[in-house]
Amino acid sequence: AAIFTSGFAGRAPAIPVAPDALEAAALKKMGRRAAGYVAGGAGLERSMAANRAAFDRWRILPRQLRDVSQRDLSVELFGRRLPLPFLLAPIGVLELAHREADLGAARAAAAAGIPFVTSSQASRSLEDIAGVGGPRWFQLYWSSRDELTQSFVQRAEAAGYEAIVVTLDTTQIGWRPRDLATGYLPFLRGRGLANYLSDPVFRDMAFEDQAQGERPPIGLGALPAILELLRHFPEPLRSPADLERAIAAIRRFIAVYSRPDLSWDDLPFLRRCTRLPILLKGILHPEDAARALAEGVDGLIVSNHGGRQVDGAVAALDALPAVVARVGGQVPVLFDSGIRSGADMVKALALGARAVLLGRPYVHGLALGGEAGVRAVIENFSAELDLTMALSGQRDFSSMDPGLLQRVG
Ligand code: FNR
Repeated sequence: AAIFTSGFAGRAPAIPVAPDALEAAALKKMGRRAAGYVAGGAGLERSMAANRAAFDRWRILPRQLRDVSQRDLSVELFGRRLPLPFLLAPIGVLELAHREADLGAARAAAAAGIPFVTSSQASRSLEDIAGVGGPRWFQLYWSSRDELTQSFVQRAEAAGYEAIVVTLDTTQIGWRPRDLATGYLPFLRGRGLANYLSDPVFRDMAFEDQAQGERPPIGLGALPAILELLRHFPEPLRSPADLERAIAAIRRFIAVYSRPDLSWDDLPFLRRCTRLPILLKGILHPEDAARALAEGVDGLIVSNHGGRQVDGAVAALDALPAVVARVGGQVPVLFDSGIRSGADMVKALALGARAVLLGRPYVHGLALGGEAGVRAVIENFSAELDLTMALSGQRDFSSMDPGLLQRVG
């Protein structure tokens, strides 16, 4: 309602309403490197484009004369009723968008009562983000060191996080030409490392590696980007010795950050670490969904990481129906990758997602206006979602199914 009343008062909205205008304004403000990091996808960015194209192939078939005067947009997830069917997706290194970073975004989420999913690569520690209040989930990059994985999960549980989201699709960072071209690695200078640098296990571990002079292997493909980045680096990295130390630090971090050898057999370890619900993010294949159910996970997130990992991967929306069918309502299936409007949310929910995660659009709001910008994005998505529901003859999500949609093309 706020957007209409301010419109009547002749005031322009604080941030662009149309998603493409919002993105363009945000990227312009962020500068080349940060913009490339947020906007970029893997390879030729075909999966990123496919994510949006997939939404265009589903059209809504509105129903009439159904008394939609009272609407309920709430959904239940893990025993909590959320006022809206969406969460803010885990996004690393938010300080690149705005100095308020995770705190600004988490405050906006808390104001709306929707969960903020704190990234392992957050710019503020998970405890600082918890201090904002509001519902919160923690996204885990499963470290090569079990003790660090355990530490992250236990810290999250102690700080009042309500679910653990294990991201499966990023055991290594995808081939992202925009980042390679700008020589950009976000975690340098401690950016996006707040959870690691505040972790007692990680601090001890780094010390141990240094003492042993360990040199974990690094993919050679990443080296030119690192060197290019270091070239632009200000003090204190001018001397060759400093560069050497920086590269050693990056190597050390990359070796610890993920476990490429992670397998289904490791899930019981995580189960033993926490009583919180465990969701797997990055599920696209129905066979993986079936295996996840057999392993007793509590929820799935169908996602291709916004097209940032496997160029040519199936559009996430195209993967959703088969996963939903396979899961058969046993656990909630959530969805992200390509949501750019309230109408997109309706489509994903009609195809069986219990809730969706909003990704890049909230980063754009953050870039333009900090917390207020994210609030505006949440309000605009909620308003459009509500209107689309009403105008489609839908009072709530209880009886919504794919019958609301028609597939074209
Ligand atoms: C991400 N995503 C992500 N996912 C995750 O599990 N941990 C992370 O740290 C990040 N970091 C991250 C940074 C940036 C800049 C982007 C754009 C995305 C993926 C994110 O959670 C979500 O899956 C995608 O953003 C969904 O795609 P769209 O809708 O944003 O295009």
